[in-house]
Amino acid sequence: MAADTKTVRGITVYKNKSQAIRTLLDLNDDPEIHGNKIWFSSFFIIDYLNANPPQHKTKIMEVGCGWGILSIYCAKKFNAKVTGVDADKNVFPFLKLHAKANGVKVKKNISRYENLKLNILAKQDLIVGGDICFWKELIEPLYKMINKAVKEGVPRIVIADPGRAPFLKLAKRCVKKFKAELIQVDISEPKTKNGYLLIIEN
Ligand SMILES: C[S@@+](CC[C@H](N)C(=O)[O-])C[C@H]1O[C@@H](n2cnc3c(N)ncnc32)[C@H](O)[C@@H]1O
Repeated sequence: MAADTKTVRGITVYKNKSQAIRTLLDLNDDPEIHGNKIWFSSFFIIDYLNANPPQHKTKIMEVGCGWGILSIYCAKKFNAKVTGVDADKNVFPFLKLHAKANGVKVKKNISRYENLKLNILAKQDLIVGGDICFWKELIEPLYKMINKAVKEGVPRIVIADPGRAPFLKLAKRCVKKFKAELIQVDISEPKTKNGYLLIIEN
């Protein structure tokens, strides 16, 4: 029988057809806003963080965390204090399963981007998110969240995407308003992919 898990960038990841994932799908409601698998833009951010490592115990918030692989990586590799934020409560059993398999804890916050409270944003040293601006309706909520986070003094925000039109529109606004940087990146593991990082330094 094939193994139920694989190791990606040092993180234990359950295969979609594994018994553990099938059991969670049987026991819980299905994720409803595309948080139904691990998307690959998080790996662009993982490479960025390896090149620009956060300090020990940095407070990191992953928005639109889905199964939370990026959160788990930050907790495991950088010993960061991580909060995973998602509007869809149904993603969190998958995050919990992976956090447990990797021996880390990730705090959960069920919230839409635009509803994140100022005092919660203000506590973060870094806000990250991969594959989170995939509909044009998500541009404004994410822009509002970024604007609030910048005003609250969050030092760095990093968002990654393959280059969908809504993300590029968000990026254009952030370059203009916050002097953000938009850079092209690629990965060869877990698959060969290319995309963008939007980096807002405050
Ligand atoms: C394409 S998935 C990406 C998940 C994860 N970042 C990854 O790379 O595997 C997008 C995630 O954003 C969440 N999401 C969508 N709209 C949201 C909103 N307005 N506020 C918070 N989370 C949202 C979805 O529930 C989903 O988990």
